[in-house]
Amino acid sequence: MSTKRIPVHKLAVGMFAEELDRPWLDTPFFFHKKKIKRQEDIDEFIRYGIKTVLINTDKGLDCKDESILNQHERAHLVDTPKAPQLPPSKPQDSDPVVLNEELPRAKEIKTNVTNAVKNVFNDVRMGKAIEINEVKAQVNTIVDSVFRNRDALLCLANLKDYDDYTFLHSVNVGILAVSFGRHLGLSKDQLENIGLGGLLHDIGKTQIPESILNKPGKFSEEEYTIMKRHVSLGVEILNKHDHIPQEAALVTSQHHERFNGTGYPQRLYGDKISLFGQLASMADVYEAMTYDRVYRKATSCHTTLKRLYEWSDTLFNRSLMEMFIQCIGIYPYGTFVELNTGHCGIVVSVNHEALLRPDVLILFDKDKKPQNPLLLELAKERDSGGNFLYSIQSELDPAAWGVDINQYVYDRQYVHDKKLCETPSTSL
Ligand SMILES: [Fe+2]
Repeated sequence: MSTKRIPVHKLAVGMFAEELDRPWLDTPFFFHKKKIKRQEDIDEFIRYGIKTVLINTDKGLDCKDESILNQHERAHLVDTPKAPQLPPSKPQDSDPVVLNEELPRAKEIKTNVTNAVKNVFNDVRMGKAIEINEVKAQVNTIVDSVFRNRDALLCLANLKDYDDYTFLHSVNVGILAVSFGRHLGLSKDQLENIGLGGLLHDIGKTQIPESILNKPGKFSEEEYTIMKRHVSLGVEILNKHDHIPQEAALVTSQHHERFNGTGYPQRLYGDKISLFGQLASMADVYEAMTYDRVYRKATSCHTTLKRLYEWSDTLFNRSLMEMFIQCIGIYPYGTFVELNTGHCGIVVSVNHEALLRPDVLILFDKDKKPQNPLLLELAKERDSGGNFLYSIQSELDPAAWGVDINQYVYDRQYVHDKKLCETPSTSL
């Protein structure tokens, strides 16, 4: 890869920005790698205080200027302190329980919640009332787990098992909503309400014919109209029950509304959509896109987040979406990545203080040959000058490499055993 660092004012349309000189949390540019398509891209870099940009001349235009950095610019760079790793924008309490300890418990919780949601959906299909207290009890187990460790249930929500889409989707949306709510600092009561809403947000689908629900192709206009009714049908079902908190009902009634007013059923826009509705719409779309359906291939969690970010300011509120990405991680758990050294591995732990540098379990060496699993904490590995040794180069498709991500969730001996991480800087 041919790269060179140039001052931002020498950047031109057609160049490929490989890396900026500021931490992503300081800028709105979650994904620093991008092709410069318009002058506005450069203006935005300048507006956010970017001084220099590393360009990749294999992927875009070169900067022909011989003296890429003049003396003044070099002097300035020497004075520029290394970008600090910022804490998340909202200070969070540290988790009382580590990920490895919470994961087995989280797995059990997810199984129990899934069974409870199945029962609720089956009851409603048969015209029975929802056992609200039972669902609330299940939501509490989610909330408690997320407070013990914010990542354990999120990890499991990112791993897709293909039991019954509607149930698992509802469970995962409930987990995502509670996790995101905790990230935003919502109260425990609010988290219980949003979790309840998440589990029941698609309850109206119990009233939609199976032939439409499970149609293995695109909907006709008429079918789509019927499908969209699941929102109002869901609200009707909830209205028949006492003790459904309003915040939970908002999740059901507004989860298909979009920030620019193109959603349904009410075509609400902007702040007319409650925080709970906005939160639910992000969780719903993220979850749905990361699931394989008969008519649509899933996109990876990382790619999905990129798309969602691109849709900020149209479908979603940008500030809220930025916080959603901070909560999930730029490279969420289970992302299969290639490092700058050529090694490939799985993201096994999100580092919330340095989202671009998670913990990666290396499975392939630099020549792409399988190697003994080796845990690398990207944020900790630096050279003697304090520079990071490793960075994520790109995301890869684990299926193409014969890697089963699920295997590394339930068998985390490698992640437990830090001794396996010999001296990465020399062994890699
Ligand atoms: Fe829905």
